[in-house]
Amino acid sequence: MTFEALDWRRLDRLRALFLNGQFEGESYWRDATDLAQYDLTLGERIGWKWDAVLRELKLRGWSPPAGAELWDWGCGSGVAGRRVLGAWPESFSRLRLTDHSRLAMEYAADRAKAARPGLDVLAEARSETESNSYVLCVSHVWNELPAEAAAALRRVAAQAAAVLWVEPGIHSVARGLQAVREDLVTGAGHRMVAPCTHQAACGLLAAGNERHWCHHFADPPPEIFANSDWVRFGQRAGVDLRALPYAFLVTDRLREAARSSEPPDLQRVLGSPRVYKGFARVLFCGAAGVAELDVQQRSAPAIYKAWSKERGGDFYQVTPDPQRPDRAASVAAWPPT
Ligand SMILES: C[S@@+](CC[C@H](N)C(=O)[O-])C[C@H]1O[C@@H](n2cnc3c(N)ncnc32)[C@H](O)[C@@H]1O
Repeated sequence: MTFEALDWRRLDRLRALFLNGQFEGESYWRDATDLAQYDLTLGERIGWKWDAVLRELKLRGWSPPAGAELWDWGCGSGVAGRRVLGAWPESFSRLRLTDHSRLAMEYAADRAKAARPGLDVLAEARSETESNSYVLCVSHVWNELPAEAAAALRRVAAQAAAVLWVEPGIHSVARGLQAVREDLVTGAGHRMVAPCTHQAACGLLAAGNERHWCHHFADPPPEIFANSDWVRFGQRAGVDLRALPYAFLVTDRLREAARSSEPPDLQRVLGSPRVYKGFARVLFCGAAGVAELDVQQRSAPAIYKAWSKERGGDFYQVTPDPQRPDRAASVAAWPPT
């Protein structure tokens, strides 16, 4: 499938479905061409979010338990499973694909086998299993699921050896993932790997934080901005290629897993810093909770400059200002550059 072969009637139909968010329980994939068109465009954008998550996991020294099955639940064209397999090519014993669309499972299986000849691939509609030695990956399914399917997926997540779950970075869905986080950590004894820098309760659950949501922004590959296919796609689809907001969670049961050299007081930026003249207002999340703090330009000129260009990393060590609880006295990026 190439950009020349894009069929806009198909893409418009799919995009309208995703934007309207009204799923009748029937599968919307009508044939393999629907899946191929999605995979090349909308699916690839989802792949960029996975790239950001997988980069973060590597930065933070995480890897999946060796020899487990990788289970892509709600696989669609299979972009998430392929990205995870690509990040740890030797880790997984098998790829399991589940979707309520048989066409989707077949398409995803064919693509995975083409990418990794010899890979053991199991495609089956059964949405639950007795086993618990799998790594679950879930991508952009949450708002399509009726209550019963959502409950089944939560059980599958609770039983997993590790969970990697990426969704759009919108308030309602990110808040839904937060509820899943509580299930996994408090109910099923999972350990938070990411996005959190701590194992404490989610700070966004505290009263007063209802308007916030845990979301982040992925950078698409820079070369797409000089690629006429992608530029035309963005214009025709009305999609801002730069804005890739996502919400995610990664948990595991690897009690002894090394946590690289991450400092214990590490803070993560939620959303993006709001930059004003001379200071930036930033929502930081850490073990002590979530706090909106002003960071003065003079206290961190390089970081302020990066934020004002919509750059800057996710992690910081923050020294509070003892005189002004709404201010940071200093911030330092992690890992140090
Ligand atoms: C927006 S697509 C995302 C596909 C893929 N995970 C990705 O990130 O590109 C949502 C997928 O969830 C599947 N799905 C929806 N409801 C489902 C259910 N009840 N059980 C299994 N899969 C379901 C759809 O068929 C579709 O393939």
